[in-house]
Amino acid sequence: PRRIGILTAGGDCPGLNAAIRGVGKTAIVEYGMEVYGFNAGYLGLINKDYIVLKESQLSGILTVGGTILGTSREKPYKIVKNGSSEAEKTDKPEMIKQTYTDLELDCVVCIGGNGTMKTAHMLAKEGLNVIGIPKTIDNDVWGTDVTFGFESAVQIATDAIDRLHTTANSHQRVMIIEVMGHHAGWLALYSGMAGGGDIILLPELPYNIRSVCKKIEKRYEEKKPYSIVVVAEGIDHPKNRSAASHIAEAIETYTEIETRKTVLGYIQRGGSPTPMDRILATRYGAFAAQCIAEGCFGTMVAMRQNELTTVPLSEVGGKLRLVDTDDPLIQKARKMGVSFGDEYL
Ligand code: F6P
Repeated sequence: PRRIGILTAGGDCPGLNAAIRGVGKTAIVEYGMEVYGFNAGYLGLINKDYIVLKESQLSGILTVGGTILGTSREKPYKIVKNGSSEAEKTDKPEMIKQTYTDLELDCVVCIGGNGTMKTAHMLAKEGLNVIGIPKTIDNDVWGTDVTFGFESAVQIATDAIDRLHTTANSHQRVMIIEVMGHHAGWLALYSGMAGGGDIILLPELPYNIRSVCKKIEKRYEEKKPYSIVVVAEGIDHPKNRSAASHIAEAIETYTEIETRKTVLGYIQRGGSPTPMDRILATRYGAFAAQCIAEGCFGTMVAMRQNELTTVPLSEVGGKLRLVDTDDPLIQKARKMGVSFGDEYL
């Protein structure tokens, strides 16, 4: 029988187990393949650290957060500098190839974000059969309209914003909430809109602190006693403190209105996936198994206009999918009076 490997790499997110289950069950039940799960992302491939996954081990994990295989940010192609600052290529790619040959693998399914896809592409160029599955709460993988994990994170961040509304109202405060997203503003935009944020700051749109303060002061004049500011972690800010601290201090200084900040952090990546993320991850997983059966290697499974498709890994790796500054949701939001902090630039 054909033998496949699965690994999860990069920052975790809800839905990883659903994707592992989707690949594994389809591969075993539909195609009679053998499935090896590699531990801790690419480290498992480097160190030949794996477990044989039977169908029974894939039961009961659909709803569970995190990843049964563990993950790491290991980048086997990263150039490491030695003491004399000379760049040297490590032999990790060689070790991966050795594992692949020794275990007689027919394909490796790499579940991850942009970094993972970049490595997957390098491995494909070395001659390994590889298929990528896009995951991340950041929703920033090039080549697909959506990654699993994103909706779950939007749900968690929206719940948090909902709770901040009530305490902000009681105390008549400005509340800053910082959400993740790396260099992309998807999570801030979607949770900000779902949670009724008054001001949303995205890395893609340069903001001006005077604009932010003007909006808050205008709300006070309009007898709106509190404001919710949703800030993406990736906005321009001094690196020695959080984006939320930077914005909160500036607002309090200029407006003299009591301001508090919340950095939501890793809660956004934890726990059970939403039903839609379970389904998306399952569909990606099952489709990846089908792609293996059809020999469609060197690709990433993707969702485009609600259709499952594949994209060559050569088009994906390393590129970020950022929010378009003319995104229809931003346009609608502006017409409703939501500020993006750039009105008076
Ligand atoms: O990519 C997911 C993500 O949670 C980003 O939103 C965040 O910037 C980063 O990972 C945090 O990385 P780490 O898990 O290495 O602290």
